[in-house]
Amino acid sequence: MDASLNTPPAPTVIQRADYQPPAWLVPEVTLAFDLGTEQTKVVAALKVQRNGQSQTLRLNGDGITPEAVLVDGQPTNDWRMDGADLLVELPGDAHEVSITTAINPAANTQLMGLYASNGMLCTQCEAEGFRRITFFPDRPDVLSVYTVHMQGSKDLFPVLLSNGNCTQQGEGPGEGVHNATWHDPWPKPSYLFALVAGDLVANQDTFTTMSGRKVDLGIWVREGDQDRTHHAMQALKDSMEWDEETFGREYDLDLFNIVAVSDFNMGAMENKGLNVFNTRYILADAETATDLDYDGIEGVVAHEYFHNWSGNRITCRDWFQLSLKEGFTVLRDQLFSQDMGSAAVKRIEDVRVLRAAQFPEDSGPLAHPIRPDSYQEISNFYTATVYNKGAEVIRMMRTLVGPERFRAGTDLYFDRHDGEAATCEDFVKAIEDGAGIDLGQFRLWYSQAGTPRVTARLDHADGVATLTLAQSVPPTPGQGEKQPMVIPLRIALFDPASGTHQGEQLIVLDRAEMQFAFPGFARRPVLSLGRGFSAPVAIDAEISDEDLVFLAAHDDDPFARYEALQQLIVKHLLAVLDGALTDAALEAGRGAIAAAFAAVVGDRALDDLMRGELMILPGEGYLADQLLVADPGAIRKAREGLKAYLGRSLEAGLLALHDRASAVPYALSAEARGARKVKTQALALLAAGVPQRAADLAAAQFDAADNMTDRQGALMVLAGLETPLRQEKLAAFLARHAGDPLVIDKWFSLQAGSLHPQALDHVKALAGHPDFTMTNPNRVRALYMAAAVNPGVFHVASGEGYRMIGELVRALDPINPQTAARFIAPLGRWRRIEPLRAALMKAELERIVAQPGLSKDTFEQASKSLG
Ligand code: PHE
Ligand code: ZN
Repeated sequence: MDASLNTPPAPTVIQRADYQPPAWLVPEVTLAFDLGTEQTKVVAALKVQRNGQSQTLRLNGDGITPEAVLVDGQPTNDWRMDGADLLVELPGDAHEVSITTAINPAANTQLMGLYASNGMLCTQCEAEGFRRITFFPDRPDVLSVYTVHMQGSKDLFPVLLSNGNCTQQGEGPGEGVHNATWHDPWPKPSYLFALVAGDLVANQDTFTTMSGRKVDLGIWVREGDQDRTHHAMQALKDSMEWDEETFGREYDLDLFNIVAVSDFNMGAMENKGLNVFNTRYILADAETATDLDYDGIEGVVAHEYFHNWSGNRITCRDWFQLSLKEGFTVLRDQLFSQDMGSAAVKRIEDVRVLRAAQFPEDSGPLAHPIRPDSYQEISNFYTATVYNKGAEVIRMMRTLVGPERFRAGTDLYFDRHDGEAATCEDFVKAIEDGAGIDLGQFRLWYSQAGTPRVTARLDHADGVATLTLAQSVPPTPGQGEKQPMVIPLRIALFDPASGTHQGEQLIVLDRAEMQFAFPGFARRPVLSLGRGFSAPVAIDAEISDEDLVFLAAHDDDPFARYEALQQLIVKHLLAVLDGALTDAALEAGRGAIAAAFAAVVGDRALDDLMRGELMILPGEGYLADQLLVADPGAIRKAREGLKAYLGRSLEAGLLALHDRASAVPYALSAEARGARKVKTQALALLAAGVPQRAADLAAAQFDAADNMTDRQGALMVLAGLETPLRQEKLAAFLARHAGDPLVIDKWFSLQAGSLHPQALDHVKALAGHPDFTMTNPNRVRALYMAAAVNPGVFHVASGEGYRMIGELVRALDPINPQTAARFIAPLGRWRRIEPLRAALMKAELERIVAQPGLSKDTFEQASKSLG
């Protein structure tokens, strides 16, 4: 056999440095859709304007063929295909080019472009989906005013929506057909185009903007789901008000619509005036959604709404600038959620997400700066680095100048670049000019990948405390040598006797090594460093267990308090994993942690939301990240061992906590939510220590539950235990929620994510369950992403977990490459895993890369992971 048949064509690498302005602009476009589930006809009329020397207009396409091409109304033969692109030769500087295409939405399993979901038609165009609908310069720096005509069956598609305002609605053409015209006055890139047609109902409301304009709001869902949209609607109105107050940004259309769809690759999409959402970020009521789901909805509704300014009014020049809109918008939604609920708990959760998702990315083969330098497939760069580290980088600017000057900077940015396709550099420059700060060296955060490591030591002599800090940025793919970064650190020095400090200070570490002297300390103070997680770095402080226990009990910065307890546990578990602890040292270490936990469980001054947060042990992935080479089996054993010790030694206190919290009736208040949180955290510790007792208590919580938080929490604990109650309650849950896909997703994922010793077998069996399907991304993620991040499943020593994920990737890639590619990262961690497992992981990646016809998405991730 010819080996070359199996060799994929060399991938095209797009370089940031190669950016060229568009050769042609498209100031106006009119789209006419004749809608059908199996066939939709599209006629696109583009007013084009020459913007350079070239007479050739390049229009991107993907999987479509032109049925007709007209120039200035006349059929022409002056066009040819170049791969998937359509090239049209144009004699003059301004023309109208009209192209007809036909697409089959029902056959679109990638969920990019126009596709069918649950009987409705909807679009997803970011990043490069518009080219699957019609030929177009599909790049974010081509901004057009859109007019959209659509017609289709009144029966199948009673509701016809697009961006902007509806300017006309009518009957026909023909029997049973109706039509509508939408016009969006704001020029936008093609990735923000959207169209939805289907049998939908709306929860309608209004919002009056700060200048007194009334905006009609609609959240469109399937009949029967209206009652589950109220939380999303409240979040939308809160977001609109918050953006006016906090960033001075007002909404700019008469209409704002959101549509919820059940087949969606991501969380949601900010299309101008017509956001499209994954149902999981819209639908909620007490019976079906957890408190975390409620928070997710509030955050994502806000995120998409905030994009109207950070993304839509000012968009990205090219996709390398993705963090311009995503990093900034994540920061905006984080600040919003901090203001809406507990700021302390929100900050801790955001840091936990960063450490769980972004730190591993930054220390692995797929590491990239928040503004990447090159890509093969842009869909692979919607990452925790671009989003979450991107948000941290902008948050640091805010920390450096303070909220007021930062606001002056963002005001200038919005003012200066409104209506433009901008760059990250434009943003930094606007903050520099508006806030009055030099961000020269700070810009390294945009170009250098890798999580900086900061070491800290505090010395004390002659009444002076001296803090010695050093930083290093580890090498990442393509970046061997790094320069010192600008690292803002919020610190406080505590007097151990009084338990107080003289005020927080901001210090800036901007060289490889620096010393800071603090006079006036008769006694050696206790160092609280990186308060509020003031920089996305890993801090290695020489700090005693005694000081950590002190900070865990006394630090007035909630994040620092949480961090001290986490560090105490991390240090202990790393020592356990090292295998060098004497029995006495093991006892002493556990004892200190148990004492700190007992204080947390019993501290009356703590609110329950914070208490629940403090009761969560550092995750297995985070622990693995602290080691050069990790043994996932040993980490699981050490962590569960500590949990069992805590469950046993704190049994009485945990039972009392559970009991107290169980008396709090269901409400959405912080108090009631806190009660639910500590209830399940208590169960989780008890399950490790006193499993029989915990099983009964979990079953009782399950039976008594009048809300999803309690029911799911109890079932999660039961799913990890070897008890007959496990099957019984799993079956009861499935029966109770049959027909509700979002809840069935939970049922899949809590089994795949469980601590049960046979969890891998459970996952394999669930893959054959009648409710499992490969065509719905939520369901695929519910089963397999939960499995891939569960070391007890993914890292079983036999390698069966790797094989299962490898097989999934190969089966899913032809159906939905974007979602398939997301499963590569866990396998890509092989260099940081002990050698026996590492070899098995690598072999799985090799099997994936060898698959003929692999998508660009999966190829890029798998080949880089091997590289
Ligand atoms: N731009 C979307 C968001 O962050 C995410 C997204 C990307 C959705 C690509 C779909 C496709 O809000
Ligand atoms: Zn976004």
